[in-house]
Amino acid sequence: MKIKKAIFPVAGFGTRFLPATKATPKEMLPIIDKPIIQYAVEEAQQAGITEFIFVTHHAKRAIEDHFDENIELLEKLKSDQKDHLVKQIQNIGGSTSRFTFVRQDKPKGLGHAISCAEHMINENEFFAVILADDLIDPLPGNILKDMISISMQSSKQVLALEKVSKQDVSKFGIVSTTKNHKNIHTLDGIVEKPEENIAPSDLAVVGRYIFNHSIFALIDSKNPGVNGEIQITDAIAKDIDNFLGYQFKEKRFDCGSKIGYLKANIEFGLSDPKLKVELKKYLKGLQNL
Ligand code: G1P
Repeated sequence: MKIKKAIFPVAGFGTRFLPATKATPKEMLPIIDKPIIQYAVEEAQQAGITEFIFVTHHAKRAIEDHFDENIELLEKLKSDQKDHLVKQIQNIGGSTSRFTFVRQDKPKGLGHAISCAEHMINENEFFAVILADDLIDPLPGNILKDMISISMQSSKQVLALEKVSKQDVSKFGIVSTTKNHKNIHTLDGIVEKPEENIAPSDLAVVGRYIFNHSIFALIDSKNPGVNGEIQITDAIAKDIDNFLGYQFKEKRFDCGSKIGYLKANIEFGLSDPKLKVELKKYLKGLQNL
């Protein structure tokens, strides 16, 4: 069994970045020179994904255009012999990949967004879900590749886990675990955005999931959960014995928040060979203010 499909829920409005996101999808905001969504697609591609399914909205057309070819631009760059730039814009996501765009009519929550792509997944098929806002450093390893291999070895569904501070538990789905081995946790519960005093642990689910088709039958579109949204967490809770948690080691940037987005730009800049010397010098200079 191979995992070949990934769903990217990208229909959200991105109100935290207004006015920048009035006409531009938040997923198209760049970290240095590449849109946030492209990092997620490249991570998936490196983990063996070849079918990219976007759950989108009419205001998000720029995402579809970004993963299509821009023939005029390509021809211009080729005739100018700018081969390095041709490589940057051609076949993003791989030359044999397939991109599909599915509409979510209303922002009814993550569980609802995922269920909009149900028809794209076969009976008994495992697939990934990637929340591009959670930008995960591609080094030292590939988080999705690790999750796929845990899923294939155990035949279980897998949630990415990260320890968060007590004040932050109410922003995430929080799991309760029974034991762990090599950063892989056995789970016995999950709750969406609990108050600090009732959170079962400080282990939060972040934006990477491996699901089986069976999850769709558990998404209850008639009974919204926290914040009046159809939560994927509520579906996971019904089948928690069939999930494992993977506490990954790579660094995560919450690019859905301004501070996380700024941190990602600074850190990716500091590891960019062409930018790092000047950026470091500039930042050191600021510390002397
Ligand atoms: C969603 C999920 C939540 C998860 C989080 C990770 O919440 O509902 O369980 O912890 O993504 O980023 P959202 O951030 O969409 O409110």
